[in-house]
Amino acid sequence: MPTERFELLPNAAPTADAVREEILANPGFGQYFTDHMAHVRWTLDAGWHGREVRPYGPLTLDPAAAVLHYAQEIFEGIKAYRHADGSIWTFRPEKNAERFRRSARRLALPELTDEDFIGSLKALLAQDHAWVPTPRSEADECSLYLRPFMIASEKFLGVRPAQEVDYYVIASPAAAYFKGGVEPVSIWLSEHYKRAAPGGTGFAKCGGNYAASLAAQKEASAQGCGQVAFLDAAENKWIEELGGMNLFFVFKDGRIATPRLTDTILEGVTRDSVLTLARDEGLTPEERPISIDEWREGAASGEITEVFACGTAAVITPVGELVTEQERIRLLGDNGNPIAKRLRAKLLDLQYGRVEDTHGWLTRLV
Ligand code: COI
Repeated sequence: MPTERFELLPNAAPTADAVREEILANPGFGQYFTDHMAHVRWTLDAGWHGREVRPYGPLTLDPAAAVLHYAQEIFEGIKAYRHADGSIWTFRPEKNAERFRRSARRLALPELTDEDFIGSLKALLAQDHAWVPTPRSEADECSLYLRPFMIASEKFLGVRPAQEVDYYVIASPAAAYFKGGVEPVSIWLSEHYKRAAPGGTGFAKCGGNYAASLAAQKEASAQGCGQVAFLDAAENKWIEELGGMNLFFVFKDGRIATPRLTDTILEGVTRDSVLTLARDEGLTPEERPISIDEWREGAASGEITEVFACGTAAVITPVGELVTEQERIRLLGDNGNPIAKRLRAKLLDLQYGRVEDTHGWLTRLV
């Protein structure tokens, strides 16, 4: 996948080395951005064209741009990892590229090929590779978080699919998504707000889904919880996801279950990888409907021994308790979440090149 197709417009005033190193020592999540961004333009007449890597900076958008009014927008999240020999790799990018096309179809946006999706990551990293942090230990999950996104930039207030669209990739050095690392998080159960409905956009990675989750997230924060769990809109009974992460339940007999995919659940790349790694570890993965009653009863009886959340940003993070308006659902006893920790270590070892990539999941960027 040649990066030469992307014209380089270099940043004339890149971040000084000493400043960048200071940022990389403590990047947090999503606060700092690299010196460049990748960009490809699409118009109905010309298709995708104008591939470039240009200085990172504010966009010029017409105030009538469709995205600002009707939220015709999609995005992805994917990371770049530095291996011990200095090379830089990413994880299953073709899965993100495929999901980006699924999201594009649902939001009536143009589809981007694997060649352009993966090519844009390579072209950006060819310039900004110094921004990929070097892990200080095996527990250090630092990476460069890549955020491809597509917006409807056409100046037009009528409601129809835009005929002018822009695709960008920006990059942000990242430490653990949750400040506590693998410390269990508390989760708030959203009983009034729904994230997605059948036939809607729940399976697509579009900004609107995340906007719809924010009022519930605000409730969660007021309750001292770090995340929100959403139930299905039709029956208010089935566990869907956390809005930015998928959920897994570990059972004492070795089963490990996650909600079956429907059009109201985002198909996480980490979710899919955990299903495979769990089988490699001798566990029995299950994809099936899981009700809030099963969570409550399994926690109380000791049938469920661990609950964890997973996503690209969060990797694998144990869930300590589920807080609702009526109750606090806690697991019987604290076993220290050994399965979540084992799967997390396996995944990180693979992503950082510390074990053989037997599934062929890594793609070299630099
Ligand atoms: C990701 O995991 O990459 C996401 O896009 C979710 C968000 C919580 C950052």
